[in-house]
Amino acid sequence: MRRKIYLTAAAGLSLALSLAACSGGGAGSTGKTTGGASGAAEGGTVGVSMPTQTSERWIADGNAVKKGLEAQGFTVDLQFANDDIPTQSQQIDQMITQGVDSLIIAAIDGTALSSQLQAAKDAGITVVSYDRLIRDTENINYYVTFDNYQVGVQQATSLLVGLGIVDRDGKELGATGPFNVELFAGSLDDNNAHFFWQGAIDTLQPYLDSGVLVVKSGQTDITQAAIIRWQQETAQKRMEDLLTAAYSDGSKVQGVLSPYDGISRGIITALQNAGYALPDFPPVTGQDAEIASVKLINEGLQFSTIFKDTRKLADEAVSVTLALLAGEDPKPTANSVLDTKTYDNGVFIVPSFLLKSDIVYADNITSLLVDTGYFTQDQVDRGQM
Ligand code: BGC
Repeated sequence: MRRKIYLTAAAGLSLALSLAACSGGGAGSTGKTTGGASGAAEGGTVGVSMPTQTSERWIADGNAVKKGLEAQGFTVDLQFANDDIPTQSQQIDQMITQGVDSLIIAAIDGTALSSQLQAAKDAGITVVSYDRLIRDTENINYYVTFDNYQVGVQQATSLLVGLGIVDRDGKELGATGPFNVELFAGSLDDNNAHFFWQGAIDTLQPYLDSGVLVVKSGQTDITQAAIIRWQQETAQKRMEDLLTAAYSDGSKVQGVLSPYDGISRGIITALQNAGYALPDFPPVTGQDAEIASVKLINEGLQFSTIFKDTRKLADEAVSVTLALLAGEDPKPTANSVLDTKTYDNGVFIVPSFLLKSDIVYADNITSLLVDTGYFTQDQVDRGQM
């Protein structure tokens, strides 16, 4: 039996207002209770399960979701799982035992939570899959995320821009190369990694086919390119191995496709240790606009990143959760579109609300990240939160 929490019209209005307020919080917002609860959903508790605190984005996501829910009068149990699957399972088990009304989960391994989700279903707890699709279960209600295929397209496009093959609008500039590139992918147990890769490869494939791009290592399969748990050290090691295996003949790697800023920093360190230096540093892409990488982009060592506004994703998760608890069909916000075709989790096509992402280059850091209040200029300058 599904529990219902009744929200009044006033609660709906208060949601709209507080979501707007929540959007001003910045990536480093603390998630403190902001008050202003309508009281209509009083007593509700939401369990928010995030994968790790080693990456800034998940801290920002967790805090923004917490703040948005608390503004609606919910109690929030926010947990980070240290990128450890048993820890996440245990934390969710505990949330269920403690009687949460609803769950918002960004899974470490998208296939590892089936028994928890069955228990949630049996207890009438609604579940929102947050950013990463939870797979192989019928027991989730909705998915909120970014257009993940498009993120991959943007990553590859920015690599092509960095190499001078296309301009920022995607117009061909006539460069014939050949350019030596290497390709990195994310963690294979994260459904997103496959979407990012597919978007990127579809964009790069014509240039690989024509010989404008060459992957000298020959490692063009996602299983060869993948970095388990998206780890920086593992990425650094793989880049070092690639340089040894394919570039000991004096040739140079001229660009690297990276799916995440932490991986990018590992790649950049490996390149620097091998003697690569400005002004001839190969373009390296990224994702998440982590503050340390934004500084590297300012310095010219990382070429680009993809900005996914975690404040907007948090708003989306709050809005969906409130609708579910009120027994209503969630509606897209001004930032999202409803997609009912793309995200097959192996059991069903999960209705998804998708947000847009932006490519960050050195010259639009201010407009995308500072003017929007995501970071302060001081944080950007220092490269620290
Ligand atoms: C997220 C990315 C993030 C990556 C590593 C993915 O699921 O969509 O934004 O870079 O995980 O944390």
